[in-house]
Amino acid sequence: MKQDENPFQEEDKIFAWKQPLKKDAYEPEEIMHRDEEIKLYTNSLQDIVEGHEPNNVFVYGPTGVGKTAVTKWMREKLEEEARKRDVPLSIVGPINCRHYKTAYRLVTAIVNDLRSEEEQIAQSGHSTDRVFQFLYEEIESMGGNVLLILDEIDNIPPDARNDFLYDLPRAEANEDTPIDDAKVGLIGISNDLKFVDTLEPKVKSTLGEREIEFGPYDANQLRDILTYYADLSFEDGVLEEEVVPLAAAFAAQERGDVRQGLRILEKAGEYARMEGSATVTEANVRKATENIETDEILDYFEDKLSIQQGLSYISATLMVIEPQKEARTKHIYNLYTKLAATIGADEVSERKFYEFLDQLCMLGLARSTERNLGRKGGRTYIYEVTDDPEDIIRACEQEDRLSKVLPSNVYDILEHYQKGQATSYQAPDGTDPEQRDLFKFG
Ligand SMILES: Nc1ncnc2c1ncn2[C@@H]1O[C@H](COP(=O)(O)OP(=O)(O)OP(=O)(O)O)[C@@H](O)[C@H]1O
Ligand SMILES: [Mg+2]
Repeated sequence: MKQDENPFQEEDKIFAWKQPLKKDAYEPEEIMHRDEEIKLYTNSLQDIVEGHEPNNVFVYGPTGVGKTAVTKWMREKLEEEARKRDVPLSIVGPINCRHYKTAYRLVTAIVNDLRSEEEQIAQSGHSTDRVFQFLYEEIESMGGNVLLILDEIDNIPPDARNDFLYDLPRAEANEDTPIDDAKVGLIGISNDLKFVDTLEPKVKSTLGEREIEFGPYDANQLRDILTYYADLSFEDGVLEEEVVPLAAAFAAQERGDVRQGLRILEKAGEYARMEGSATVTEANVRKATENIETDEILDYFEDKLSIQQGLSYISATLMVIEPQKEARTKHIYNLYTKLAATIGADEVSERKFYEFLDQLCMLGLARSTERNLGRKGGRTYIYEVTDDPEDIIRACEQEDRLSKVLPSNVYDILEHYQKGQATSYQAPDGTDPEQRDLFKFG
């Protein structure tokens, strides 16, 4: 490129406004396809506007299905109604627990949010009990109904769990707290169902007084929602007809997650812009999807899965593409032990390993179906991976430690699998004793 040339395009002809496509950067004015959930939500919060005490509400469901968006929308409507009826109500949050590692930090953040510039408390220097005391005082001084919304509560600092999820909602009845007049309600939001099981029973029943489940969206619903965002974000007429339906179909096939659909649209638009094309095409969407999936899986490998879970995931994937064997639990475990040995990781018991497979299912990365073993008796589970095995393998290749467990001919195996051709399985690299040993499945 010459000195007098400028590589930036004069004008972006694809995007009008990118913000709505960005992660959690835009609040929609309209909520689509959540009427049922909104009805349940409204019913749980109706007591407040009627002048009764607030209920505690637990909102759960997988990622990107509108839990936070609907909650923010409900908050607005509730405030509006309370104002209209003259019901005293203060709403705090949603506060995202993921941003606070300790109870101290979380509580300080809330208190400071409620206090004026001059009265802020320091990031350290008090005891945790003391900062909770400050919080209670703030709540009492607000008086009336106080609704506290905690988002991603599976990330709540462990030392804050009982205080927030149990003590606070019943503080009014407790003589030892400064809260006498204020009535506290809690809304907790989570995409981790296991989280509830980790709670003590008393905490669980406090939080779960009212539960609202958000399920994944189907392709039609995603198409409507993505159209709403696409209209805001893209210049008129640049999207070819198939673009949004295709992005919606991809996202529906996976987790029914709007956020993923938005990422596909943004990436596809960027490819079109890079090509200097006047329109975003179906091919742009396909390319975007492939890269996004690999990136997302890599994200799991690097951030969300332990090395053991990662090994389980890759064992299941290799077993799925292995032409001669079904991905039964037992087969996957056998392979897992070999893979663990190659990278010198601990080898867990079979029972523990099944827990890992369960967790993968819980995260939406795998699915299992139960199968009777015929005359021999007994039952087994057959596993599938939800993402395309090729994307999983590409992601695994990019992860330092785990990349070492891939057979050297993994792409050959993959190709046979993709063509639906079972072929007699060969040790990946017959001349390499380690690989030969490793990939004698079974
Ligand atoms: N029904 C809907 N109508 C309009 N926009 C929606 C709808 N559902 C989700 N969105 C949008 O999709 C994105 C993801 O939704 P949201 O952040 O509410 O997901 P979530 O369920 O809270 O996920 P997580 O568990 O990861 O926090 C947001 O940009 C949100 O505005
Ligand atoms: Mg959320």
